[in-house]
Amino acid sequence: MKGHLRGASNKRRAMTLLLVVSALLLAAACGATPQSILEPTTASARRSLELLSVVFWASVVVFVLVEGALVYVLIRYRRRRGDGLPRQTHGNTRLEIAWSIAPVILVVVIAVLTVPKIFADADGAEADTLRVRAIGHQWWFEFVYPELGIVTANELHLPVGRSVEIQLKSDDVLHSFWVPRLRGKLDMVPGRVNKFVITPESSGTFLGQCAEFCGIAHALMKFRVVVESEAAFDAWVANEKTARAPPASEQAQAGEALLAAKGCVACHTIRGTNAAGVIGPELTHVGSRSHIAAGILPNTREGLSTWLSGPQDVKPGNFMVIPELSDDEVEYLVTYLQGLK
Ligand code: CUA
Repeated sequence: MKGHLRGASNKRRAMTLLLVVSALLLAAACGATPQSILEPTTASARRSLELLSVVFWASVVVFVLVEGALVYVLIRYRRRRGDGLPRQTHGNTRLEIAWSIAPVILVVVIAVLTVPKIFADADGAEADTLRVRAIGHQWWFEFVYPELGIVTANELHLPVGRSVEIQLKSDDVLHSFWVPRLRGKLDMVPGRVNKFVITPESSGTFLGQCAEFCGIAHALMKFRVVVESEAAFDAWVANEKTARAPPASEQAQAGEALLAAKGCVACHTIRGTNAAGVIGPELTHVGSRSHIAAGILPNTREGLSTWLSGPQDVKPGNFMVIPELSDDEVEYLVTYLQGLK
């Protein structure tokens, strides 16, 4: 009786566990999935998804067949009361050949499907391809448009429907450029240029992130790709080419005066001022970006003052060196930076 009760409570516990795990899995599957590879918006990302589907369904079939056979054998040939030692056999040549050959065939099929996709992904630039250099830094992304004379950070703008060649470099250690909805990962390797060509097919903001462990703030190294109409892109380019907007208020003027006093000029460039450093992100039009600190904080007064009051609290280990600022100084700088549209 006691054993029977214990069995029932064990069963109940197992059921509860199963329910909790299922609920957690369901919850994990809910909500927005801005970095999903299941919603491709380029031919390259679609090719990856096609391959993933083939591999996934092949795995499902193999799983069902193997587990089905296993469960059948376990039940059909289980030990019954009064059974002695079964007849001892060693090996079955035909079976062993079969289960060696079957996986090889499967792998060959997947390889044959993969190779043309690798070649398609290696397609190069055309005459009207836009070229962008993406440079990985600990822990932010720099984007250079050599033909347009633009340098920006953490927000890459691209025109929809036009092919773009992204050349990947690194300034320090290994990083990896990954925007799941646009393409699979590709490493940013010091001393080497990796590149790929894609044509974004729909407008929108696509989240990207460094996908190679690159130091303490690796997980806080994000970026955005803004894919927009040709007209919106041209307007963005025209604005990016201009020097910084002159400070529009006394507070903003005080903010600009702090650039030299606090040493910002040594690391950041703000065209139109004496700030010409090339160590940190370009800030000439930082006010027009949606986020700061490599996609970590929203570009609001609150976000900016959080960052300026303690960059190490937001992104531990980052290389921004800034003396402690008074509340007023933070206010002036925030007003100034927000005005840099
Ligand atoms: Cu850069 Cu991880």
